Amino acid sequence: MGKINIAIDGPAGAGKSTIAKYISKTLGIIYLDTGSMYRTVALKAMRSGIDTRDPEKLAELVKCIDIKITHLGSEQHVFLDGADVSKDIRTPEISIGASNVAVVPAVRLKLVELQREIADKNDVVMDGRDIGTYVLPQAGHKFFLTASLDERAKRRYRELQEKGIPGVTFEEVCKDIEYRDINDSTRAFAPLSKAEDAIEVDTTDMSIDQVIKKILSYIKLC
Ligand code: DC
Repeated sequence: MGKINIAIDGPAGAGKSTIAKYISKTLGIIYLDTGSMYRTVALKAMRSGIDTRDPEKLAELVKCIDIKITHLGSEQHVFLDGADVSKDIRTPEISIGASNVAVVPAVRLKLVELQREIADKNDVVMDGRDIGTYVLPQAGHKFFLTASLDERAKRRYRELQEKGIPGVTFEEVCKDIEYRDINDSTRAFAPLSKAEDAIEVDTTDMSIDQVIKKILSYIKLC
């Protein structure tokens, strides 16, 4: 029998990871946060002194990068060269770096290979930018979450404060998200876009519970 594949795409702060985590718990399937993989490539590049917009050096870097994803309960952990970097990849600098490395086709091809391998072997809910359009075009369920820029920036800002990441103003968060929106949706290869057969949900004025209810109402598993 084929695996359950649920794709959740959308821009930063639209609520993808909150919803995907809840669905993974409810259905007892794994959650794969594909953004964490792009973040890990950015971390490696920055630690190696490589410009996150240098396509040649990044193509070299990903040839032998060692990224592993493990799941402890519903928590995903990302390992880079054997070390758990799950916390290190959550800074604003890495957000921008991840958006930059994600433009490079060699980086995407490498990570998409890992993502498809995981979806092949597991029932999975995967969130990202190109899951419904490129990574898992055959996914049985596809959702595209959106929200206004202001609301998304508010959510991200709150999240950074809750995680205790200091020194970032609301205006900076807003600018970062705007930069990533443009960068992610205008790149040539597998840009952020809604799959034709995805269900779009504007979460601006919805509570998390309302979004979850709506999404679950579309998922019927036999
Ligand atoms: O989901 P996130 O904010 O952690 O993602 C960080 C960046 O990674 C995002 O700005 C664009 C890139 N990304 C991507 O291009 N494709 C994906 N499937 C997931 C993330």
